[in-house]
Amino acid sequence: MDISGKSVVITGGASGIGAALARRAANAGAKVCIADLNLDLAQSVATEIGGIAVACDVTQESQIIAAIEAAEGAHGPVDVFVSNAGLGRGDPSHAASAPDADWMLNWNVHVMAHVWAARALLPAMIARGSGYFINVASAAGLLNQIGDAAYSATKHAAVSFAESLLITHGSDGIGVSVVCPQYVATPLLGLGDDDAQGNLLTAADVAQSVWQGVADDTFVIMPHPDVAKYNALRGSDPSRWIKGMQMLRAKAFSEQGGISVSEFYKLV
Ligand SMILES: NC(=O)c1ccc[n+]([C@@H]2O[C@H](COP(=O)([O-])OP(=O)(O)OC[C@H]3O[C@@H](n4cnc5c(N)ncnc54)[C@H](O)[C@@H]3O)[C@@H](O)[C@H]2O)c1
Repeated sequence: MDISGKSVVITGGASGIGAALARRAANAGAKVCIADLNLDLAQSVATEIGGIAVACDVTQESQIIAAIEAAEGAHGPVDVFVSNAGLGRGDPSHAASAPDADWMLNWNVHVMAHVWAARALLPAMIARGSGYFINVASAAGLLNQIGDAAYSATKHAAVSFAESLLITHGSDGIGVSVVCPQYVATPLLGLGDDDAQGNLLTAADVAQSVWQGVADDTFVIMPHPDVAKYNALRGSDPSRWIKGMQMLRAKAFSEQGGISVSEFYKLV
């Protein structure tokens, strides 16, 4: 899809990857609505790019609907919805010890928010015969984030939901891309652009891959080329893959007192 002149909503667009997606979309001529928990930051990005900002907690279906209505009021029907808001907490010592509240927060932000956006927008998009969903999952949705079971399980579900969307509605003129980055230097990891090096990309690098992938109608967008290689290895020999992940986990959390989940990028 060519996004010039299109109406684009980006959740979590106040920071990191979402803000970079917003900047690049505005540069390409899109009309951008930033929907984020943090209205002050969202407003400052919106002012910079000539877009609009709305306060939105994506764990509430009614607030996603209100954000869509605000975007429609300012920019016309929503052509592209980017479900990008996300969080990471980590639970390195035990795969199931995180409280139910953390699991449900991961589930609502990483999966239900995508479902609610699709539920709100699909009828009008199908009637128009066009529309595009960009769902930002993670490489953890294809592989795993060692040390964060709730993040990994819900990002897998996000990839699966994106597949269902495209399988069901591709013939209705609906496009879908699911974005699966590995590590990106953003506030989610306590990092910024100056920390990016090697395999640790900047948010702007990811935004460039995403909009190129959308222009090319790419379903799974992998800004880090190694992810495709790892995904193929995992598919070809899952038992061997798990042994490798166990060794990586042991290295990460046992040696020299261990590292935190947010420092994991140092190992890959
Ligand atoms: N940074 C990485 O290494 C990395 C890697 C793979 C995938 N991702 C994914 O990319 C997406 C963006 O992450 P980022 O690294 O830019 O993080 P970030 O922390 O810089 O930005 C996340 C944004 O989401 C917003 N947000 C969080 N919960 C929200 C909610 N309930 N409602 C509305 N907004 C909410 C925050 O206010 C923030 O502006 C997330 O889905 C994340 O899982 C990040």
